[in-house]
Amino acid sequence: MPKEEIANLALRRSLFFPSADIYSKAPSGFFEFGPDGETIRRKIVNLWRKQLVEREGFVEIFGSEILPEAVFKASGHLQNFNDPIVQCEKCNSLHRADKLIEAHSNGIVPESLSTKELDKLIKKHAVKCPKCKSSSFAEVKKFNMMMKVDIGATGDVPCYLRPETCQSIFLDFSRLYKTMRQNLPLGIAQAGKSFRNEISPRNSLIREREIGQMEVEVFFNPEKIDDMPLFKEVENYKLNLMLLGKKTKPISCKDAAKKKLVSGKLIAYYLARVQQLYEAFGIPVSKMRFRQLDKDEKAFYARETWDFEIETDLGWVELMACNYRTDFDLKGHEAQSGQKLAVKEDGKEFIPHVFELSAGIDRTFYVALDHAFRKEKRGPEERVFLKLPAKIAPYLAAVFPLVKKDGLAEKAREIFSELNSHNIDVFFDQSGSIGKRYARVDEIGVPFALTVDYDSLKDKAVTLRDRDSMKQKRVKIVDLPTVLWKLQSGTEKF
Ligand code: GLY
Repeated sequence: MPKEEIANLALRRSLFFPSADIYSKAPSGFFEFGPDGETIRRKIVNLWRKQLVEREGFVEIFGSEILPEAVFKASGHLQNFNDPIVQCEKCNSLHRADKLIEAHSNGIVPESLSTKELDKLIKKHAVKCPKCKSSSFAEVKKFNMMMKVDIGATGDVPCYLRPETCQSIFLDFSRLYKTMRQNLPLGIAQAGKSFRNEISPRNSLIREREIGQMEVEVFFNPEKIDDMPLFKEVENYKLNLMLLGKKTKPISCKDAAKKKLVSGKLIAYYLARVQQLYEAFGIPVSKMRFRQLDKDEKAFYARETWDFEIETDLGWVELMACNYRTDFDLKGHEAQSGQKLAVKEDGKEFIPHVFELSAGIDRTFYVALDHAFRKEKRGPEERVFLKLPAKIAPYLAAVFPLVKKDGLAEKAREIFSELNSHNIDVFFDQSGSIGKRYARVDEIGVPFALTVDYDSLKDKAVTLRDRDSMKQKRVKIVDLPTVLWKLQSGTEKF
């Protein structure tokens, strides 16, 4: 859906909006989630937790956002987590050099290019400043994207806001491996915030400075990368793989592993779980792909990377980086901290390898909205609704009295409390006309609405309305919890 439609809906319904926007000098790239937006965001994380953490038998932590400098020396971020920036000599505005060149050349500029090579490309493509149109630029420089914080009254303990949530996972691995009595493969997950000092945040929730991440790090014995008992469950499932220089092609997990298109069965297995998760978020498989990154494009810690991307109105957007990080991180932390991080299994001591599934929460939110947005003409009227899957809709059902009087509001309130006590996410609204109330819940993606009318007092039933088809049917009040549970789980269709 056009990004303007999403921005309008987000503002109209306070789904998300820029932080501190009553102040004109608030920096960009920071966002607030309003009540319904936050509920959708939370449900996205919960579905990730159910499908990619709990079902896999993984454990989840909640780590600190501020970590000492030594962590980022070991992780390589202090030396390598840089963006190339260039300043316009006429208006002094700052730009990301690679993105500026991409905008002028319609091509991808690899992250690994040196500052000198970027200087040459700026000249070659006659790049102009997007602000003042000058083509006079200073030399490209590297800019470290981490945000520094000084801790303590003297500020002499240099620390950084973490640029990726997974660093706490690497720091905690050894403790959890011992105390949780886990064997490899061991998955450790975390959902939280990370921070990157982006030069030019853009495209709303897609490129932010404060980022919601949900990451899973799978620690495994590299000699057992093909030892995956659950692989059978996905062996015939097709992954949309975009191999280097090739078009996207559906390839079964079995073939991907057999033909060594991925490093092993473990990798194919988790790529399948990722694709299935985004199917559950309501994205058609035809709009997904795993793009294999070339050595110039991969992050400094990765041996093999599949960027999981989804096609949207903004083009293909990266939702999840699937990185084979080898023993890069644990080795780095072992050397820097002097603590032993190896494990002993089958009589052998080794540092586990890591396969990472690193997803953006806010990006997932944006892309789910992009795919769910519908505008429909019904006669003279136009209707906007979000066709969100029930599992990530802010509520499963809205409860409305047809009118406030004659005991209908009390009856509706009673049904609302009863459904709430059954752990069903319901929403009560008695203000405004019934048509306006339907329109409001359609816009935030509530799949069902039930209305208590005068007949309800006699036949002990309500009218249940389906968001997508707008069809209605009568359902006995006593059957509502079961009917709604079945509709939510998909075991029953409307
Ligand atoms: N942990 C990988 C990333 O943040 O991109």
